[in-house]
Amino acid sequence: IDVEVYKTPDEGARAVAQEIADLIRAKQANNEKCVLGLATGSTPLKLYEYLIQMHKEEDLSFKNVVTFNLDEYYPLEKEAEQSYWNFMHVRLFNHIDIDPDNIHLPKGEWPKDKIRQHCEEYEKAIDDAGGIDLQILGIGNNGHIGFNEPGSSIHARTRLVVLENSTRVANLKDFPNLSKVPRMAISMGISTIMRSKRVVLLAWGHKAPIVARAVEGTVTEQVPASILQQHPDCTFVIDESAAAELT
Ligand code: F6R
Repeated sequence: IDVEVYKTPDEGARAVAQEIADLIRAKQANNEKCVLGLATGSTPLKLYEYLIQMHKEEDLSFKNVVTFNLDEYYPLEKEAEQSYWNFMHVRLFNHIDIDPDNIHLPKGEWPKDKIRQHCEEYEKAIDDAGGIDLQILGIGNNGHIGFNEPGSSIHARTRLVVLENSTRVANLKDFPNLSKVPRMAISMGISTIMRSKRVVLLAWGHKAPIVARAVEGTVTEQVPASILQQHPDCTFVIDESAAAELT
């Protein structure tokens, strides 16, 4: 894992936005689609603000961009305020010129007996798009990436997962009370993430202990982000506080 340490989250987010813009433009020049894997949560918010700014002020077009989000709560309707579908539209998609047909998120409102098939179709859609060129990740305090909680298999693909209680508590801020936080999610698997051509994980502030375990600790399914040590092109973009426990 390459680690890039920036003074502030703002500077880190800016650098990643620039990398994404460069990739989109390089693909445009070759008449190719640019396939991005996207994350939600508080970590990538600034990144999305910069991408919107680049669209508005620097003519960055997203017409050739195809997106696949990591995860979605289950069960939850996409119209719900807390859905990741809603998050992505409010924080990014509504403000750029991406083709709605190119936007993909797992469907949190689908009936349970159709989820397996839906997950297989999600994987197939990624493959049909030519695979993910650049996957953006955050990291949970327990080391999860996407909603692959500790113990998730490295072979797992997109599937229905049960959220850890600590994950539900971490995301409580978006819901009226804990009982309203969904108990499950549909998430890309570790193997889906590992198949991305490049992975950029962002972490700011209080994530120092888990960043150190992911980068320098044993590679173990108990710390899902540590599996990224085996990815051929993975960079952690972190700020100084998140770097505090690296040796
Ligand atoms: C979100 C996701 C999660 C978050 C992680 C960190 O799509 O897959 O893995 O990246 O829980 O969340 P924040 O950024 O809110 O600290």
